[in-house]
Amino acid sequence: MNGLFITFEGIDGAGKSTHIDRLAEAFREHGRVVTLTREPGGTPLAEQLRNLVLNDTMDAMTEALLVFAARRDHIAQVIRPALARGEVLLCDRFTDASFAYQGAGRGFDREILATLEHWVQEGGLQPDLTIWFDLPPAVGAQRLSGARAPDKFESQPLAFFERVARGYADRMAASPGRFAQINADQDVSAVWAEVGRAVHAKGMLP
Ligand code: TMP
Repeated sequence: MNGLFITFEGIDGAGKSTHIDRLAEAFREHGRVVTLTREPGGTPLAEQLRNLVLNDTMDAMTEALLVFAARRDHIAQVIRPALARGEVLLCDRFTDASFAYQGAGRGFDREILATLEHWVQEGGLQPDLTIWFDLPPAVGAQRLSGARAPDKFESQPLAFFERVARGYADRMAASPGRFAQINADQDVSAVWAEVGRAVHAKGMLP
């Protein structure tokens, strides 16, 4: 069987996690081996970098270099091997998050991000499908306000998430065939139905 690379994106508070777990279960029920992973993170080295990126103050270029360094290790250690074994690789965030958060959110140079993407995703590695949980930033802020102690990104102002959301829309406009845009401002079962339809439309699940 061919490996499948599916990524999940959205602003903080968009509610991806439940659906990633459910989708993993659905693929397993159809006999697929699933690897669940996340970015930044997914390897011991990348998890250490995640800790720095989420908690330490740094400029936008440092942040971009660290998320791509983490990604490079993750691709080499986890993503490529799982795809080569024919597994379903479900990854909570990937490069679209760097364009949305560091590019649109922080205002960091998108050409440099594109160069890093080209280097790190050697051979043009891209997800087969990216599920974008599109949530109005004001709703995301509302959801996060009741949450545990926020990290560096979660504590950003609403205007930051408005830029991040536009960053995701720009990435989708650049690669419409790769993206499925899900309305995340609905109850969990309606969101799940849209996720199921997106995966089905790609012929990935019956
Ligand atoms: P998470 O809370 O969904 O696991 O994501 C971690 C945070 O890291 C989230 O606020 C988005 C941010 N992030 C970036 O800023 N750039 C990136 O490239 C990635 C993958 C995540």
